[in-house]
Formats: sequence, structure tokens, C-alpha cells
Amino acid sequence: PSKANAATSRYVFDELAWGNDETHHVAPGYDAQILLRWGDPITANAPEFDVMNQTAAAQLQQFGYNNDYVGFVPLNEDGSRGLLCVNHEYTNEEVMFPGLGRQDKVDFKGMTPELIDIEMAAHGGSVVEIARDEVGKWQVVRDGKMNRRITPLDTAMTLSGPAAGHARMKTNDDPSGTHVIGTLNNCAGGLTPWGTWLMAEENFHGYFWTDKLDADGNPDISGAAEEKSWDRYGVPGMWYAWGQKHDRFNVDAEPNMPNKFGWVVEVDPMDPTSTPVKRTALGRFRHEGAETTVSKDGKLVVYMGDDNRFDYQYKYVSEGTVSDDPAANGALLDEGTLYVARFEEDGTINWLPLVHGAGPLTAENGFNDQGDVMIDTRLAADLLGATPMDRPEDAQPRGDGTAYILLTNNTKRKEGDTNAANPRPDSSFGHIIEIKEADADHAATSGTWSILVQCGDPKVAEVGAQWNPETSENGWFGSPDNAAMDADGRLWISTDQGSSWGKTGKSDGLYALETEGEARGTSKLFFRCPVGGEMCGPYFTEDGETLFVAVQHPGTDGTKDIPGFERESTFEDPATRWPDFDPKMPPRPAVVVITKEGGGKIAV
Ligand code: FEO
Ligand code: CA
Ligand code: CA
Ligand code: CA
Repeated sequence: PSKANAATSRYVFDELAWGNDETHHVAPGYDAQILLRWGDPITANAPEFDVMNQTAAAQLQQFGYNNDYVGFVPLNEDGSRGLLCVNHEYTNEEVMFPGLGRQDKVDFKGMTPELIDIEMAAHGGSVVEIARDEVGKWQVVRDGKMNRRITPLDTAMTLSGPAAGHARMKTNDDPSGTHVIGTLNNCAGGLTPWGTWLMAEENFHGYFWTDKLDADGNPDISGAAEEKSWDRYGVPGMWYAWGQKHDRFNVDAEPNMPNKFGWVVEVDPMDPTSTPVKRTALGRFRHEGAETTVSKDGKLVVYMGDDNRFDYQYKYVSEGTVSDDPAANGALLDEGTLYVARFEEDGTINWLPLVHGAGPLTAENGFNDQGDVMIDTRLAADLLGATPMDRPEDAQPRGDGTAYILLTNNTKRKEGDTNAANPRPDSSFGHIIEIKEADADHAATSGTWSILVQCGDPKVAEVGAQWNPETSENGWFGSPDNAAMDADGRLWISTDQGSSWGKTGKSDGLYALETEGEARGTSKLFFRCPVGGEMCGPYFTEDGETLFVAVQHPGTDGTKDIPGFERESTFEDPATRWPDFDPKMPPRPAVVVITKEGGGKIAV
């Protein structure tokens, strides 16, 4: 406590200088080792990566693209062996495949059926065993018995909870409405207290296709049975060509298929033959993440953001309590209450339950049952009067009834359209809200909130940034995206500036953000990405000695606005060839493992 009241931040390390170049950087005194790259073989029989001769069959046994969420499940007492659970959110075809270039999103002329299947095989997730060797260095255990790939191409899943078996979930290949092949756009996620992995399905709408176009070449959904829902969710988004080859992604053939995506998927990483389960009680939206905690009376609580401009912050509270018997805990994700947040102007927060029959969630308003409420979570939350936020990304609870909500940016919010919890119009840099639940209980339906920091450059008055003045020119950031708690309950924030990269000139990175004492609101830079790469994943092992970070899409985002790069990357001419720096290899997304030189807790 004496430390927490000190005027300086509790994170002990020499801050990294901000900047922007072709490689990654970590604070002095730390090792940052490349652990797993796109294409690395992760099963005993997997072929070595051959970038010029890619196949879907090979990719199904190799580490996928765009590593996002990273979790670690220990396999032994001292945590020196364990399973890394990694999401593969999406693919960047222009730097994955030779000769393709950036695809025209309407006709996708360059996408062959095989390239489509490779992209599908590069999505999803990986479970990979890793272990420390004799000198304490983390290594991949290639023949690990639990190693597996999960993909939208071939992984069978079941649906459970209120929307499972619903009429709107029935498709040609599944008249029961309880099965689906694959998971899409798995962004952040979480681990449950019983060691299962939650994969959040984010921009699922982008994968659906229609051949019905209006005069401007945009999807024409008028008259579709799901028109109202599709309009609210952006279906079909037509970001990928998959629906040209696979009817299940073509809404003309399978109008109910989008209803099977946009969920939180639970995976048991300890059983490589287990079938992942989409838990519909946690609602359907563009799930950024699904970080868990336990309430005072032992219930599971999951905090979840819907990453869309003017969309909402949610949390789920289970009916039952967490048991020592893992098999008994699956039902906790099927039976419970989903709440949406209303951030009141007076600094209180109310969590509004999404329960069929309560308030406006009735048949007159289009909700015939709880399945409808879950399938159209966004429409239900609209009726309840939830607070429209500046793109809720990761939400990070701490066991003491506190949670941090990362709002990444919202350049569409107009003057006069602000609210107390989203106070800046045209926000390019985002902010972070701290929630204190009533009685320090994560299951509470009310509490208080405050803004921890308003991001952006504190020297530019019109940005309206708010940091602790102890924050240096290296420490301020824009566009908070993912968060982690370390072993001492300290907060770490990673950034994703996307096309706003040029507005700060800084690369994306990982920051230590003080939440306590006089130093509250002080941020320090710990790690930065190579140019065009987004910082994902941050995850600390329980002993606080290992930190995993994931560099997503190196060489792509915002590079045309960065002095010294000034172009859109292609396979042949990327802004960086991180991490291999091999003239024949394009940049590769990779997981990086960070430890202190000589060992010990990070930032202590
Ligand atoms: Fe996948 Fe909201 O970032
Ligand atoms: Ca992200
Ligand atoms: Ca997180
Ligand atoms: Ca983001």
C-alpha cells in the first residue's frame, strides 16, 4: 500500500523510447524472443513452411495467421510447461500470397479456390505445447499431444444455450440448429477459472456473401427474412471471397448461417479431440474478448465489448457457482444472465438484464423467446437504452470488483452527440474507463465509473488528452485495444491504431498503465511493434516472469503515412520482412515471449 501511494508508477523498468522502424523493441534488460510464426509446423507430421508452395492441407497443421489472443494453461506445478492458446483473427492476402496484390473486394479476381481454402485454414486458433529448456528458454514442443488447429474450414462445433436449436439457427446441413462448421474472426478472448479457452468471434459479418447487389454494387438485403437483423449487424459484409466457393458463406443459399456466428466459443485445450462449443447465453455481437473473473459468491462473470462505433459494453453472470469439478462448469456458460451497460451521467453504472419478457423484450417488439434476444442481442440492447460507446474493445476485470473498459476510438461521434462516458467528439485516440462494481462484487448490477485516461498527445490541446503529468513523451498512446493484468494486479495496455497510425507517428506497443495512488494515469512504454504491426495478446504467466505478446499483421497498417515507408505493402515489396528478414519471406505475424535477463518478475 505504501508503494501504491507513491507519486511514481509501481512498474520498475527503464522506459523504451517511442519510434517506428522495421523491427520490434523491448525495454532494456529484457529478452524478446520469437516463439511462433505464421506457417510454423505445430504437429509432429506437419510439413515445413514453404511460402511459395502453400496448400490448405499444410496450413491446417501449421500456426495460423494474425495471432491475436494469447492464453497460457500450465501443464505442471511450476508452470515450466503449458499450452499456448492463440487466436488467428484474419488474413492479409496481399502479403501472404505471391503475385496477388491487394484484392478488389467486389470481384476478388486473384482469389482461386485453393487460396480461399488456405485463408480459411489460416483462421481460427492454435493450441501449442511449449516448455522451458535447460537454460530457461521457451521452446515449442512440436509433438505435444494436445497440439491442434481449430479453423473455419473443417472444425465441427456445437451450439448450446438459449439460441441452440432455434428455428433461426437451422441450416441445410443442420436441421437441428445445434451444429456448425468453424469459427470466424477470433479476436481477443479469455481463459475460464477451470482452464478452458474462450475465443471471441468478432467481425463475422465480413465473411458472408450475396450475389444480390444494388445499382451501386452494394449488398441488396431488402425483403430478406433477416433484413432487420442483417442491417443491424452489417451482414453480408463481403470482405472475403469465401462465399463464392462455399455456399455456407453465401446468404442467398444459407440465410440462417450468419446466426451461427458472432458468439463466444469455449474450447477445452486439454482434450485435442474435444468439440468446441458456441455458448449462446453470452450473446451475439462483434465480440472483442471474453475475460473472466469470479463474483463474491463464486459465480462466473465475463466482461465483453461489442467492437463497433456506438455499440455497447456487456457482462455475463452465471446462475451457478464455479466448482472444483471442471466437468460441472460448462453449464455456467449456458445458464446465466447477460447484462448491457448504461453509464449514467452522474458517474454511476447500471447493468440492464437482457431477459425475454422483461421490459420491451417482448413478441410485440420482435422477440418471441430468449433465443431471439440472444441472436439479436444488439437490437435488444437498443431497446433497453444502453449507452452507445466509442468502440468497446477488451475489458479487463481484476478480482477486487474493478474492471477496465478499453474504448479504442470513434471518429463518427459528432459534437452534441457525446455523453459523460464518451466525452470527446471525433475521437481518434480513445479512452479507458474504470468500473468499480457495488460492494466490490463483480456480480453487482450497479456500481460507479470514472475515466482513467483520455488517450492521444497531451501536448496538442485540441486532442483533449488526459494523462498523469508524470507520463513522458514515450508513454502516451492512442487507440487502446487489448489489456492484461500481471501477477500483481497491475494493468497493461496494447494498442491498435489502424489507419490512425500516421496521426501519432508512433508504432503500436505495450504500455504499463498505473491505476493506483498519486501516479494513477501514468503510462510507460515497454514494447513496440515493427512498422505496420498491431500489438495483441498480452498475457502474463501466473508467476509474473513470462509475458507473451502477439504482433499482428506486421508491415501493413498505416504504412503509407509513415515517413520512410510511404507505401502499401505487398508480398513482393513489404514495408518490413519482420521477423525473418529473409528476402524470400514476407512479414509474418508472430508470438513473442518476453522474459527478464537473468530471470525474475517482469517490471519488478
Ligand atoms: Fe479485432 Fe476489435 O479488434
Ligand atoms: Ca485488435
Ligand atoms: Ca485481455
Ligand atoms: Ca482494435
